[in-house]
Formats: sequence, C-alpha cells, structure tokens
Amino acid sequence: MKEKLHALYAKAMEEVASLNTSDEQISKSLEDFKVKYLGKKSELVSIMKEMGSLSKEERPIMGQLANDVRSKIEKAYGEAKEKVSKLELAAKLQAETIDVTLPGKCIAPGKAHPISAVQSEIEDIFIGLGFEIVDGPEVEYDYYNFTALNIPPEHPARDTQDTFYINSNVLLRTQTSSVQIHVMENKKPPIRVISPGRVYRSDAIDATHSPMFHQVEGLVVDKGITMGDLKGTLELFSQNMFGENTKIRFRPHHFPFTEPSAEVDVSCFACGGKGCRLCKGEGWIEILGAGMVHPDVLKRCGIDPEEYSGFAFGMGIERIVMKKYNIDDMRLLYENDIRFLSQF
Ligand code: DAH
Repeated sequence: MKEKLHALYAKAMEEVASLNTSDEQISKSLEDFKVKYLGKKSELVSIMKEMGSLSKEERPIMGQLANDVRSKIEKAYGEAKEKVSKLELAAKLQAETIDVTLPGKCIAPGKAHPISAVQSEIEDIFIGLGFEIVDGPEVEYDYYNFTALNIPPEHPARDTQDTFYINSNVLLRTQTSSVQIHVMENKKPPIRVISPGRVYRSDAIDATHSPMFHQVEGLVVDKGITMGDLKGTLELFSQNMFGENTKIRFRPHHFPFTEPSAEVDVSCFACGGKGCRLCKGEGWIEILGAGMVHPDVLKRCGIDPEEYSGFAFGMGIERIVMKKYNIDDMRLLYENDIRFLSQF
C-alpha cells in the first residue's frame, strides 16, 4: 500500500507540473485532474478503502500517509489553479489593451435638413397663433384629394395636378388640402389647424419640380370668420417668418375649393421690395394660395355655411426654403450632399 501511495503521489505531481502552462484547455485539464486524483472515484479513495484489510498497527501509519498524500495533492492542485488563473488574467489584459494616447474619433453633430427646419419654424409660428398641428394620409382616396374639394371626376382642375394613381379610387395625395376634409368630418368648429406633409405629383425632376415635395395646409372655421382674419393671420405669419417689415399682397386667383380665392405674395425680403434677382425685379415673392372655404365644401363635411365660415391656405415648403436661402435648384434639397447641407 505504501508503494501504491508513493506511486500515486509521484504520478500526481508529474501531471500537475505539466498543467502549469497557459492555454485554452487548461481549465478543463485542471478539472480533470481534480476528478482523477481527489474525486469520489479517485485511485486514492479506492486505496483508502483497502485500509480495512490492514493490521491494527499498520492502519494509522497508512492512514497518516494517505492523508499526507491527499493534502499534498490538494495543495499542488490549489497552487496550479491559482497560477492558471493568473496566467489567464494576464492573457486577457494583454488582449484588451487600450491605447489611451490615440486621438478620439470625432463624431460631427447632425442638424435638421433645411426643409425640416423651415417646417418647424412654420409650425412654431402657427402654434403661437393658437393653431393645432394635424396629420393626414399620404395615400388618399380620390374623394378627399379632389371630389370633396369641388373637383369632381372630369373637372379640368384635375389635369393641373398630374397624379400618381394607385387605382381609379386611390392615389398619392397631390395637395395637403385633402386634410381639410378629414378635419372637418371629424371635428366641429371652432377649427384652427395646420397640416404639414408630403405631396406627390407625376412631374419630371428639374430645377423647380420634384415628384415629391412638401406643403403646409391651414384651415380655420368658426362663426364670423372673414377675409380680414385670413389677411391678418397671413400677415402675422409672414412678419414672423420673413421679418417684421414684410408686407403681403393678395392677387385674385381661382381655386375650386375656396371662394373668393387669392394668391398671396410677400414683399421681397432680400431687397425690401425695390426689385432684385431673388424676386426677379418684381419686389414681391409668391408664397401661397388661399381663400374663403367654399360653402359647398363646408356643407359636404356637415358644417352649415349659414352658421359658419372659414379660410384656408396652402404653401409649398421647398419654395420658401429656396427663396429664404437663395437656392436656385430644388434637386440640391434631395441629394443629401453633406457639403451642401452643412451650409445651413
Ligand atoms: N392646394 C393648393 C395647391 O396645391 C394650394 C391651396 C390654395 C391650398 C388655396 C388652400 C387654398 O388651402 O385655400 O396648389
């Protein structure tokens, strides 16, 4: 038995020594070692089971020796384990070295696209005037985009807005005026809303056209609303948007869903009205269409035109952006070239 224990000890020491190198398998080998030499089914345990067959005198001596061997193996195992974990930590630290002297990565702060920036500016002005902002669908029924706005099928006004049809009944809205109908169907006066959003027309792309662009629609309906309210509202808006000395002028026009209708110009904010390149020598810049909501449009939405009246207006955001920043080609707004966009 004594020889067996000595042999076992020698074997264990030899094996544990070979463990003291660092590699990926080492933790697994350590576990195997522990099971093999110190586990319940280890050779040591089976040798100890043979103790019973020894003489009374021999038993304590062999017991002492077996315990010795066991604690030495345990100690060697413990040391090996500690060494391995130190080696592993060192390897990990080595692999994860950070060079704190390297220059940092510079993340340039982004900012709003000029179209979004101008849209927010318009929204802020109208919120200040007590308006609410509403959203409407971009994929729209023919009824909301045309028919309910006094543009029935076959009406020539349909031809002026080249339309993307999904089917004969559904289209991509050509104007945010469609939102007027949704609002009036769902809300009783007083109504005071603006609705910004994308609109679509089957136009070829050039310096002043795009198949997708942005509009802001405005609608006010209440008792006793007059053309004077429309003019006052647009004047306040224009002064906030283009400068406090801005003047506005109404030119008679026709829109099927307003009566009377007007095109509205602002005095040129580049030359103050004297005439320059921006206003093409006119002194005025057209910014929107507007008018008093047609009684038939009110009626169709269940609002009595004898009791209520209203005004509406619609403006193109790109047009305002282009005039404001003196951009002569609309395509620049959609190319997302940082060299262009970072100027604003
Ligand atoms: N929807 C018109 C367009 O796209 C603009 C417009 C004109 C809107 C007059 C209005 C309005 O609300 O009253 O050309």
